[in-house]
Amino acid sequence: MNLRVTSESLKRASQRASELYTEIFSELESRRVDPGVTREEMRTMFSNSINEKGVGLDQALEEFSEKVLPNSMGTPHPLYFGLVNSSPLPAGPLADLLVSSLNNNGGAFHQSPAMSATEQEVIRAFAGLCGLGAETSGMILPGGTFANLQGLMLARQAHFPSWSTDGPASLDGRPILYRSDVTHFCNDRAAHVLGIGQTGLVRIPSQGRGEIDLGHLEQQIQRDRAAGHLPFAVVANGGTTGTGALDDIDSIADICKRHNLWLHVDACYGGGSLLLEPRLSEFQGIHRADSIAIDPHKWFFIPMTAGILLTPHHQLERETFDIAASYIPSGGDAVDPFRRGLPTSRRSSGLTIWMTLRAHGWNAIREAVERNIRLTRFLEELLFDAGFRVLEGGKLSIACARWEPAGVEAVVLDQLQTEIAQTVIDSGRAWFSTVKHEDEIWMRLNLVNIHTQDHHIDTLAKLLSETARQCAVSYD
Ligand SMILES: Cc1ncc(COP(=O)(O)O)c(C=O)c1O
Repeated sequence: MNLRVTSESLKRASQRASELYTEIFSELESRRVDPGVTREEMRTMFSNSINEKGVGLDQALEEFSEKVLPNSMGTPHPLYFGLVNSSPLPAGPLADLLVSSLNNNGGAFHQSPAMSATEQEVIRAFAGLCGLGAETSGMILPGGTFANLQGLMLARQAHFPSWSTDGPASLDGRPILYRSDVTHFCNDRAAHVLGIGQTGLVRIPSQGRGEIDLGHLEQQIQRDRAAGHLPFAVVANGGTTGTGALDDIDSIADICKRHNLWLHVDACYGGGSLLLEPRLSEFQGIHRADSIAIDPHKWFFIPMTAGILLTPHHQLERETFDIAASYIPSGGDAVDPFRRGLPTSRRSSGLTIWMTLRAHGWNAIREAVERNIRLTRFLEELLFDAGFRVLEGGKLSIACARWEPAGVEAVVLDQLQTEIAQTVIDSGRAWFSTVKHEDEIWMRLNLVNIHTQDHHIDTLAKLLSETARQCAVSYD
């Protein structure tokens, strides 16, 4: 086997990688936000590039510089107001290089002793942030989709222990899971995987910016019970993806307590705001949750992928997931992660989170979260002053706005918002998406970025105003 790697060539390559790393950070604004390339161009560029013979580290790194870097989304760019993809804190990518080099399997302590310990420390720290006790169990998973699924699997096990042996046939009614109509779609997918079907997933109407209607939720639970169904869990939103709405978690916890339901909180996006002092009132009661999904790779500025599931129900984790394998050494008294969660092999993302938090501390993240929120409210003000309609009541880092020239019919107005967004994206100067809220299309500007400053907000507001006016001309 000829890997063509000597310690000299490794040193040279890692120096080049480190130059590229520095370039990515320091020259963020010299590149377009959206690279403006087509699928076909990319397919042509990379097709047949994997062959019997490799090109060597130096050449592969040059190709990264020439082909990958200019054709990548500028996610960390200060004018990326996109999906909930954050800009990583500097320690994160460095930690990732080392995590991959060690390649310890986070599935079991004996395969990753130091990394398992750092994961435990991360779990302790995040549990503390949510007001959960020192005994809280948790696991780092590849993102919020998995964390929500794992939480809801625990909920199903808690209420229907016979399911694991006899499946849904063991029940004498229809299991019901509640969520608001604006809850992230991955919770629907979780319900699908759980096997409760579309009819087992009840969508409760939301109001205002997207908060679940509490009265409606409770009445629906009562109606379902009376009809002989088997309600078992409620998903509460600690920040919706579309508009950043916050459910009143404490009141939902009261409802769950009254009706003996599992409370799962999806704080994947909004969880970063738990660092605010004082904390937003909607998060009061989060410590009463049976499970919480919270994503370090969103508003904690950790590189993808890193989601966390927290739960106080240790024994249940094991009941839900434990399957012993004779070829894996036992973990002694402690139950290894591969026996109490979905994954078997696991990247040791705990170490990436630990190193990032160790290097930068909560304060750096808190400051960035506070700045993101302040700048989002500033953006709303500027847009309002420029004549945009702005969605009221925002508390997190999502601003929603519409440009509504007089006399234009509703369906065309919706098209106009999409056209403005696309024109800005095509310019390469900023990136954002649109969202449907209460049957209208809104421009959705979401800030989860450590680099964005006041002057970027000025730039964006001007760009939006100019683009909106220019796009609206064709509708006059
Ligand atoms: C509120 C919320 N929950 C869950 C998810 C899914 O998380 P992931 O993309 O990490 O799987 C997202 C993604 O944006 C989200 O915003």
